[in-house]
Amino acid sequence: MRSLFVLFASAATAKVMDSVAAVPKGWTEVRQASPDEPVTLRVGLKQQHAAALERAVLEISTPGNPKYGKHLSRNEVRAYTAPKASAVSSVSGWLASSGVKSTVNNDWITFMTDVKTANDLLDANFAWYQYEKGGSPKLRTLSYSIPDELVENIDLIQPTTRFGQLGAKRSTIFEMLPLEPEEEDDVKAAVAADAADCNPSRVTPACIRSLYNINYTPPTEGNLVAFSSYLEEYARYSDLQSFETQYLPAAKGQNFSVELVNGGKNGQNSNDDSGEANLDVQYILAASYPIPILEYSTGGRGPLVPTHDQPGPSSNEPYLEFLTYLLDQDDSALPQTLSTSYGEEEQSVPAEYALRVCNLFMQLGARGVSVLFSSGDSGPGDACIRESDQAPYFQPTFPGACPYVTAVGATYNVGPEQGVSFSSGGFSTLHPRPEWQADAVDAYIDSIGSTYSAYFNSSNRGFPDVAAQGSRFVVVDKGRTALLSGTSASSPVFAGVVALLNAARKSQGQPPLGFLNPWLYNNSAALIDITSGSGVGCSGNSAFRSGARWNATAGWDPVTGLGTPDFGKLLAAAAPGVENA
Ligand SMILES: *[C@@H]1O[C@H](CO)[C@@H](O)[C@H](O)[C@H]1NC(C)=O
Ligand SMILES: *[C@@H]1O[C@H](CO)[C@@H](O)[C@H](O)[C@H]1NC(C)=O
Ligand SMILES: *[C@@H]1O[C@H](CO)[C@@H](O)[C@H](O)[C@H]1NC(C)=O
Repeated sequence: MRSLFVLFASAATAKVMDSVAAVPKGWTEVRQASPDEPVTLRVGLKQQHAAALERAVLEISTPGNPKYGKHLSRNEVRAYTAPKASAVSSVSGWLASSGVKSTVNNDWITFMTDVKTANDLLDANFAWYQYEKGGSPKLRTLSYSIPDELVENIDLIQPTTRFGQLGAKRSTIFEMLPLEPEEEDDVKAAVAADAADCNPSRVTPACIRSLYNINYTPPTEGNLVAFSSYLEEYARYSDLQSFETQYLPAAKGQNFSVELVNGGKNGQNSNDDSGEANLDVQYILAASYPIPILEYSTGGRGPLVPTHDQPGPSSNEPYLEFLTYLLDQDDSALPQTLSTSYGEEEQSVPAEYALRVCNLFMQLGARGVSVLFSSGDSGPGDACIRESDQAPYFQPTFPGACPYVTAVGATYNVGPEQGVSFSSGGFSTLHPRPEWQADAVDAYIDSIGSTYSAYFNSSNRGFPDVAAQGSRFVVVDKGRTALLSGTSASSPVFAGVVALLNAARKSQGQPPLGFLNPWLYNNSAALIDITSGSGVGCSGNSAFRSGARWNATAGWDPVTGLGTPDFGKLLAAAAPGVENA
């Protein structure tokens, strides 16, 4: 009976939702999945009022709008994102007709079944794939389809064609230099002599605070700044303590808390990876102490051979797991500011997945959370090859190119501060240019004429939005001082600044800034415009002889965005009357 239905569905009336032409670069098939292996899938249903929600978010976030700052509650957001009742019943019915039970959470339907049933239902071919740079094997398919009559109700089903490998391998650390003991002593001596010295060879907390004019100590009550850790990266308590003692005595004694999501862990052993997470917590603290800091540790790694009780790697889809978890929280449990230092090429992510995850970030903004991401460490791109046709093309970052996150690029040097070569930026291939950045980005496009015009879509969303120092940060990792570089360093610094602004607003009884970008572009005069340095990439691609480069210029540019923070000016714009002292 079932196979008949499937034959009918797949042969005659199925629509291919997504397919990848070949196994993505860096991945290999390990083996076919056996028919009885369990698989857990999520169906993203079409939201009934998606356009209205987007309009509402823009009103709430645009300075001067009467609705500015009137963030939505969890239930208000859910009312906008609810699907039609008929969509829920037709999708549940479709699954039930194959004997598959499902659970509904507003616009998501989750079901667990076996590989054979999933293959039949979705005209898919699930197999185990392994990423060359590590991580756990993933159960994925190169294509999947749904019956024609369900197309109007379903945005996506994942994890299916999403070959992502979040985790340490996708963190935006460009370089990590452990120091020899005598080099470590040199750094300590130099910091002791003048901690605030912003020397291009090392960036310290005191340098960040003096360079960005941070002198404000907010009340802590009701404030929270968070960062996301994914698979296998954990911030270490003992390293933070040692960092405070050596490099940030003013914050001595401040700890962080950890919230575990989707089976995430809190590894404090010396064999656990910690570089990315330590950098995050140490530099959020440097900018924003004494605001309490929370690490979200999201898991998703499972055994190679999963069981029904432990579905294992097949449910490994960290962004969806994490964002669904966060959006389910009470309004009072959400942080006001969230920093994440992970990224990958936008083209490595199925378009419908990138759009849906971007929509989830938008929902966080609607709830009053400012969401910041590192912009990536590849300049205009790495290999700069468009997979679909192998043409040379710049490769923007996911999710940095999502308009509902604030993407943070990197600088180095002082007097003047300059864009650093690895800082990623460019133009989305998916998202049209939002109104709030039209003037700033149009001016840049006008200034470069037809340069590189074949390699990016000049009518789309430009990123990054802002920047901060990102080279040679003094960090304590596993008890030792190391120098870390990457936009991974820039995002926590800028997030720390935003956490201070949100706390200052709270002290005046004002709502937090929430989705930041319209406010930032409206207050670009409060940022330090970076006008030299370049983001460099594509160097392995013969279409670009000595690589391709975006230049940092007056005004917005795709290396440093609008620029780096002048905290005093930002504070005056966000919370007039609160003193930077
Ligand atoms: C930080 O918090 C953790 C977890 O509660 C605890 O084990 C650790 O001792 C604390 N560190 C300090 C310095 O208070
Ligand atoms: C540029 O992106 C827009 C979406 O913002 C799309 O409609 C258009 O087709 C793209 N142009 C090219 C040349 O790909
Ligand atoms: C910022 O927004 C206000 C209120 O709408 C407007 O009057 C002002 O011109 C904007 N400034 C900039 C620089 O966009």
